[in-house]
Amino acid sequence: MSLLHLEGISKRFGATMALNNVRFDLNAGEVHALMGENGAGKSTLMKILAGNIERDAGSIRIDGAEADIRSPRDAARHGIAIIHQELNTVPDMTVAENLSLGREPTTRFGTLDRAMMDTLAREKLGRIHSTIDPRRKLGSLSVGMQQMVEIARAVSENARVLVLDEPTAALSRAEALELYKVIAQMRAAGVGMIYISHRMEEVWQLADRVTVFRDGTYVGTGRLSEIGPADVVRMMVGRTVADLYHHEPRQAGRPLLTVRGLAGPLVGPVDLDVRAGEVVCMAGLIGSGRTEVARLIFGADDRTQGHVNIDGRPSMPSDPAGAIADGVGLVPENRKEQGLFLDHSVEDNVAISSLDRFVSRGVIRRKERRAAVLAEMGRLRLRLNAVDLPVKALSGGNQQKAALARWLLRDCGVLILDEPTRGVDIGAKREIYEQIDNLARAGKAILVISSDLPEAIGISDRLLVMREGRIVAELKSSQTSEEEVMLYATGTMATAANTGAPA
Ligand SMILES: Nc1ncnc2c1ncn2[C@@H]1O[C@H](COP(=O)(O)OP(=O)(O)OP(=O)(O)O)[C@@H](O)[C@H]1O
Ligand SMILES: [Mg+2]
Repeated sequence: MSLLHLEGISKRFGATMALNNVRFDLNAGEVHALMGENGAGKSTLMKILAGNIERDAGSIRIDGAEADIRSPRDAARHGIAIIHQELNTVPDMTVAENLSLGREPTTRFGTLDRAMMDTLAREKLGRIHSTIDPRRKLGSLSVGMQQMVEIARAVSENARVLVLDEPTAALSRAEALELYKVIAQMRAAGVGMIYISHRMEEVWQLADRVTVFRDGTYVGTGRLSEIGPADVVRMMVGRTVADLYHHEPRQAGRPLLTVRGLAGPLVGPVDLDVRAGEVVCMAGLIGSGRTEVARLIFGADDRTQGHVNIDGRPSMPSDPAGAIADGVGLVPENRKEQGLFLDHSVEDNVAISSLDRFVSRGVIRRKERRAAVLAEMGRLRLRLNAVDLPVKALSGGNQQKAALARWLLRDCGVLILDEPTRGVDIGAKREIYEQIDNLARAGKAILVISSDLPEAIGISDRLLVMREGRIVAELKSSQTSEEEVMLYATGTMATAANTGAPA
C-alpha cells in the first residue's frame, strides 16, 4: 500500500485549468520526482497537499485512509511537510525563533527560555549537519541557508512525507551536496519525498521514480532505472528537444563593455572585455563574486575603484537608472529582486523599461506596445493569453521568463544576465539560449553568469572563471571542459594570478 495516494485532483484558477484529474503516489522511503514544464501544475498540487489551497475535486489518501486536508495545520497533523519554491520566511526572526515557532520553551518563571531555544535549534540544525548560528536573523542569511533552516524544521517535526519544490535552485554546490546527504538519511529512515526539479542530472542521481505532468494533466510515471532523460523530456514537452546548444561561430566586433581595475568592498580588482557579437560567461562557485561584479557595472553597488567604458564612453552610474541610460541592462538572479510588480499585468511588467519606445508626442502607441510584448512572450514560450494576468498568477519559472522578456524588449547594447535559466524548464531553456545567440549576432555584448557548467560552456565564446572575488582564468569555451573550469573555480589548479603572489 502506498504511503500517499492522490487521485482525481483538479484545480481551476479563473480560466486556467491548473490541474485536471491528476494522480500521484508515493511509497515510504522513496524519492519520487515530479517533473513538467513551467506552469504544468506541480507547485499547485503540492500546495493542495500542504493545505495552502483548496482543491476543486479529488482525494488524498494516507496509508490507504482518506485524509481530510483543508489547512496547513491538517497537513502537519498528517506528517506532511513542505519546502516551498518561494521561501516566505520572516526576515526579522532569528533562526532559533523560527525553529521553535509554536512551541517556544519557557523558563520556570514563564518567560521565553532563549538559551534553551538556542540549544534546541543547534540540535535540530546538527541533524542536517548545518552549523548556522541560531541567533542570526533569517533575513541576513543567503536563500540557501534559509532553505536549510526550513529543512531542519521539517526534519525535526518527523515528517513522513516531505515535499521539496525546487530546493536546489538557489543553493551553492556545497549546500546542494549537504542536502543530498540529508535526503539519503531521510530515505533510509522511511520518509517519502516528492522532489520537484528542472535539473535532469540531479533527478537521475536522487530519485527512484518520476511522474510527468503536462499542462495540468497526468502524462505518466516510470522508474528512473528504466527510462532516460530523453524519454522524460518528450513526455514533458510533447516533442523531442534536439541539441540544446548551437556551435556555429559568431563574429566578435569592437569592445562594447570594457572594465578596468573595478573593485567594490568584496570583489576585485577585475579587468574584462565583452565585444559586440560575443557571449562571455562568468563561471565560478556561488559566492565567488560574480553577482557583485555585475552589480558594480550596473551601478547597483558603490565602486571603490576602477572604471567602466560602454562602447568607448566612460560609464559612472550612481544608480541602475544611470547604467540603463548608458546602455546596460541587468536581469538579476533573484526573482524577488527583479522588480516585478506582482499585482500588475504581464504586459505592464514586460513593457515598463521600454515605455519611451512606444510613445510619440505624448501618446502611447498601445497596439504596437502589445504586439512587441506578445512577440517577446512568444519567443520565450510564455502563454500569450497570460498577457493581461497579474504576474503573481504565473508559475515560478514563468515569472523568470517575464523578467527576461522585459530586458529583451528594452534593447540594450550590453546585457548582463545573472542565472537566466534558473528554475526554467528545458524547452524554454532552449529558447532562451537561442535568444542570447540572436542578440549576440545582432551585435550586442552579452555577459552571462551561470552556475550550470554545461550551459556556461555551451552558450559562450569565452569563460571567465572567478574565485574569491577575482578572475582567475580566461578559457576559450570551445577548448575547455567542465573539469577544467571546476579546477580553477575551486582553486585546485594553480593560476597565473595566485602563483605570482609573494609567499
Ligand atoms: N493564484 C493563481 N491564480 C491564477 N493562476 C494561477 C495561480 N497559481 C497558479 N496559477 C496557474 O496555474 C498553472 C500551474 O502553475 P504552477 O505554479 O502549479 O506551475 P509549476 O508546474 O509549479 O511551474 P514552475 O516549474 O514554473 O514552478 C499556471 O498556468 C499558473 O499560471
Ligand atoms: Mg512551481
